[in-house]
Amino acid sequence: MSWLFATIYDPFMRGTEAACLAQWRADLLAQARGAVLEVGAGTGANLPFYPPGIDQLQLTEPDGNMLARLEGKMSASRLPHARAQKATADALPFENATFDTVVSTLVLCSVPDVARTLSEVRRVLRPGGRLLFLEHVAAEDRPARLAWQRRLEPFWARVSGNCHLTRRTGELIRQAGFAIEQETRESVRKALPIVRPSIRGVARR
Ligand SMILES: C[S@@+](CC[C@H](N)C(=O)[O-])C[C@H]1O[C@@H](n2cnc3c(N)ncnc32)[C@H](O)[C@@H]1O
Repeated sequence: MSWLFATIYDPFMRGTEAACLAQWRADLLAQARGAVLEVGAGTGANLPFYPPGIDQLQLTEPDGNMLARLEGKMSASRLPHARAQKATADALPFENATFDTVVSTLVLCSVPDVARTLSEVRRVLRPGGRLLFLEHVAAEDRPARLAWQRRLEPFWARVSGNCHLTRRTGELIRQAGFAIEQETRESVRKALPIVRPSIRGVARR
């Protein structure tokens, strides 16, 4: 499944990226500063959008097939200071207060324990550091869609790398002790209805 997921990820996402995601990534990542960590970097969809002025870019990804694609894109990118490492976001191999910015895009739906992951993100951020997030979430204001998300979630998680449909990620970020400074909720265009509700923004440690 891991090989298949890594192979089809970019072609499967192409229409959605063109419709909105690429622009959302660009707007979000323009706010990255200083030493930057990206968790669950996948095939490297964010690589084109990092601003040239950042001091350091550390990418992490637990899946070997995704990591291989990420490393391939890194070698063709204009980011000579970027490094990639195999790691899960719930046990980050970095000292406390190492980074100014942590980036998580479409990852908190898939981690086994969101609270633990956010606690790790908080630990490696410097005081005042920022989490830039873009995640698909539960359809809180559409009961019929939420019911479908609940029904399909067990199957969906099995076929899409443990991706959950009903997480209230904004609330979980707040509960982890972050102050959310920017928050946009918007429907992901050209995506399946169950993964359309999304949240993106900036949370400060
Ligand atoms: C839907 S993909 C998103 C990839 C990329 N972040 C993007 O925006 O296109 C989900 C990613 O989360 C990764 N992932 C799954 N569990 C994880 C964990 N516990 N820690 C970090 N990443 C994880 C997967 O391997 C996969 O690369």
